Amino acid sequence: MASVLVTRHLPFPALERLAAAHAVETWPGALPPSPTELQERAAGAEGLLALLTDRVDAELLAAAPRLRAVANLAVGSDNVDLEAARARGVAVGVTPDVLTEATADLTWALLLAVARRLPEAAAAVRTGEWRTWEPAGWLGLELGGATLGVVGWGRIGRAVARRAAGFGMEVLHTGRTGGAPLQDILIRADVVSLHVPLTERTRRLIGQDALRAMKPTALLVNTARGAIVDQVALRSALAAGEIAGAGLDVTDPEPLSPDHPLLSTPNLLVLPHVGSATRSARARMAERAVDNLLAGLAGEPMPFPA
Ligand code: GLV
Repeated sequence: MASVLVTRHLPFPALERLAAAHAVETWPGALPPSPTELQERAAGAEGLLALLTDRVDAELLAAAPRLRAVANLAVGSDNVDLEAARARGVAVGVTPDVLTEATADLTWALLLAVARRLPEAAAAVRTGEWRTWEPAGWLGLELGGATLGVVGWGRIGRAVARRAAGFGMEVLHTGRTGGAPLQDILIRADVVSLHVPLTERTRRLIGQDALRAMKPTALLVNTARGAIVDQVALRSALAAGEIAGAGLDVTDPEPLSPDHPLLSTPNLLVLPHVGSATRSARARMAERAVDNLLAGLAGEPMPFPA
């Protein structure tokens, strides 16, 4: 039996399997532990079930010398220093596939909401600003015949593209095989949707130059990681009408403070990182995280390594 730290209450059946096999301590807070709290709690842990809100960096790994396995409850692993983990022989796992469809759905929810200006329109109903059927009110982007630019041709990007067929959209995408250069996509797409992992190469990939390359009628959707977009440049681009709107499920940091300048930008919808937030996706992510942890602690290869 190994000692395992779980960094948040996870109300999913998979956790019962973990608790039956190992001595589990769960961080009791509704908010993530601070780096210092995490270091203290993880000091004696052999296994760690971490969330994307935890930084599993070299410092944490050094403070937890018995750690052998880290299971991240996310498909992304940018919160984990994979090199430092490798150097210490700590196995790291992630939760691919099971959140692909949920995240693609949410991408489309965001895309449709921004394309048809749903937040503004719904607000007008609530405030009484809407007084009659408006011949030219809340006009948005028609998706049929429009071009979707998918940046990142992995599982989620492809699932987003599959849905575009139902809307009669043309799809352009990046990618090594059959992909278009990013610049072409930015220039031609009516909607640019981001699905790359956050790495040093993709950090601020969408900055001032990229936003200026987009059509003034185009929309940007980000359900990947906040730091892929330069938020200062995005705010300027929206304010200057260089692009028509944006939908962000992810920001940098998360959350933005309620008085963050980005949140007062028109034509912007920001969600609280809910891409994978369906009951079944989250339960299955927990299954994968527990499978990874059980394997890693048994000294076996993780089924879903980072
Ligand atoms: C969510 O953002 C994830 O990486 O799973």
